Amino acid sequence: MWGCGGRRRRRLGALLLVLLLGGLLLRRFNWSSLVPLQLRGRTLGLQAENSEFHLEGMPFRIFGGSMHYFRVPKEYWRDRMVKMKTCGLNTLTTYVPWNLHEAANGKFDFSGNLDLEAFLTLAAEVGLWVILRPGPYICSEWDLGGLPSWLLQDPEMQLRTTYKGFTEAVDAYFDHLMTRVVPLQYKKGGPIIAVQVENEYGSYAKDPQYLTYIKMALLDRGIVELLMTSDNRDGLSSGYVEGALATVNFQKMDYSFLDFLDKVQQNKPKMVMEYWTGWFDSWGGPHNIFDADDMVNSVAEVLKTGASINLYMFHGGTNFGFMNGALDSDEYKPDVTSYDYDAVLTEAGDYTSKFFKLRQLFTKIIGQPLPPPPMITAKASYGAVLLPQYVSLWEVLPSIVEPVKSEFPVNMENLPVNDGNGQAYGYTLYETVISGGGQLHSRDHVRDRAQVFVNTVFVGFLDYNTVELSIPEGQGFRQLRLLVENCGRVNYGLMLNEQRKGLIGDVFLNKTPLRNFKIYSLEMKPGFMESLRGVTAWSTIPDYAVGPAFFRGNLQVQYLPRDTFLKLEGWEKGVVFVNGENLGRYWKIGPQETLYLPATWLQPGNNEIIVFEERTAGRIIQSVDMPYLGRTHYLD
Ligand code: GLA
Repeated sequence: MWGCGGRRRRRLGALLLVLLLGGLLLRRFNWSSLVPLQLRGRTLGLQAENSEFHLEGMPFRIFGGSMHYFRVPKEYWRDRMVKMKTCGLNTLTTYVPWNLHEAANGKFDFSGNLDLEAFLTLAAEVGLWVILRPGPYICSEWDLGGLPSWLLQDPEMQLRTTYKGFTEAVDAYFDHLMTRVVPLQYKKGGPIIAVQVENEYGSYAKDPQYLTYIKMALLDRGIVELLMTSDNRDGLSSGYVEGALATVNFQKMDYSFLDFLDKVQQNKPKMVMEYWTGWFDSWGGPHNIFDADDMVNSVAEVLKTGASINLYMFHGGTNFGFMNGALDSDEYKPDVTSYDYDAVLTEAGDYTSKFFKLRQLFTKIIGQPLPPPPMITAKASYGAVLLPQYVSLWEVLPSIVEPVKSEFPVNMENLPVNDGNGQAYGYTLYETVISGGGQLHSRDHVRDRAQVFVNTVFVGFLDYNTVELSIPEGQGFRQLRLLVENCGRVNYGLMLNEQRKGLIGDVFLNKTPLRNFKIYSLEMKPGFMESLRGVTAWSTIPDYAVGPAFFRGNLQVQYLPRDTFLKLEGWEKGVVFVNGENLGRYWKIGPQETLYLPATWLQPGNNEIIVFEERTAGRIIQSVDMPYLGRTHYLD
């Protein structure tokens, strides 16, 4: 008994000792270690309270690079981010394209390649901070600067202003978007250290209330990180909004830009939000190149001043589908499919000399060696692909597209298709019956380019420069057809409200307006391509095959697919679809001659290629292992 009682007392004594020691230890215990690692000490975030940035109280410099998830296949995001990291960058910046996330009013898509949260989480995993640029307008050589085309259904629409029709749509979109973004902010444990308010509003500046409205729209929905604005030369003085850090955009080092920042906001850190590493290309122009040494020297100069920087673009990627934007200063100029941008990585994610020069520069500044860059990825040349099957647009149309009947021409955004959202991109065919020939006059109502046919006979083009055409006389009733292409909406400048496409007003034959149309919406979305695949009219290509028509063939891939480039020599103008996906436009006027085809769009075995050619078909396309983006032009 005693022995037993003694043991019990000893055990009790030991227990008390443990509790006592435990209590002492607990008092000294650092509770913060129990808080998930990513939340520990995250109270201050990125601050811009004096001449340098602080992140969580420690001096911090932003070495950023832009890469847009919507321009790069999801499977390649990590590779590109690791390359960013091994170049010496610590921050990734991305835009958010409203027009892809809300293609139909009220229906949101954040899946697959649009999985913004997966992209941001991956950035955090790779060890990159994020500056998010949610727009709603993003510019970026992207159709309508990222705004959905259904906004233009309202004839009174005033984009990028506090016009009610616009702000209501922004509110509904931000309500949805911000619930995804808010938990990924720095203070919540995520990678987002700053959020940009709109984009270069100073160069648009139509409404003095607008920037404040967007700023409040962010704050009201729980954005707590540092706010920034970003402006180019044209907008420096009017792009500032109280409560957001102003930053500038340029290519050649210009001290006056940085001095300007000191004037609008004293004693704040300086940042070049868009240091343009290259430039984009327009159809009909050259392929722009910005010399690697000039670029690195300018970056070095910026960094010497102590400023932070973001390289726009670090990796440009591709304007897949019909998503390219356009410029219209004195002339309408649509952008090409490639967004290679002569950036730090190529369109296909490969290293350029800019990468290695920058890596050297950042290694010196950081003062320690950077991790080794990932291996290069081999590209494939699959050789010639025959396209032996053919079907003309005229043959397939009646069976796969239900036309809209209208007395008057209707612009594509206002067509009663896509559950009331109108047609956003692609081609629209306007068909009417005529009983004679004469002068056809567009009164500049064609947006952007129309092929004109009498029945199936090509008569000519109408566009911004050509507004008049002779229609030959003929017997009886004939069909007059205008196949109008939306070549891409303007993404920069004061013309945003004028971006309705198709026929935007009357077209006249001998001064009489055309009436009673059948209008076919040809957006060529996956559903359309699926129906096209099933039509019985496919036949062997005739000796003389002209567009508008579809041409079909197979790209054979043995083993694991690799990235390749499709060369469209001999083809005139059109679009390429691979396994039903729209790879983008080609046009013989160049500069771009090859389309980037990522391996992720291919599968081992057969891969269906369909080309929609407007005019002259080339019969084969070549799969090559090198891009050719055209005759180069060095930017001064
Ligand atoms: C501006 C815009 C970007 C992009 C560049 C040019 O700086 O903010 O979105 O359009 O010009 O590439």
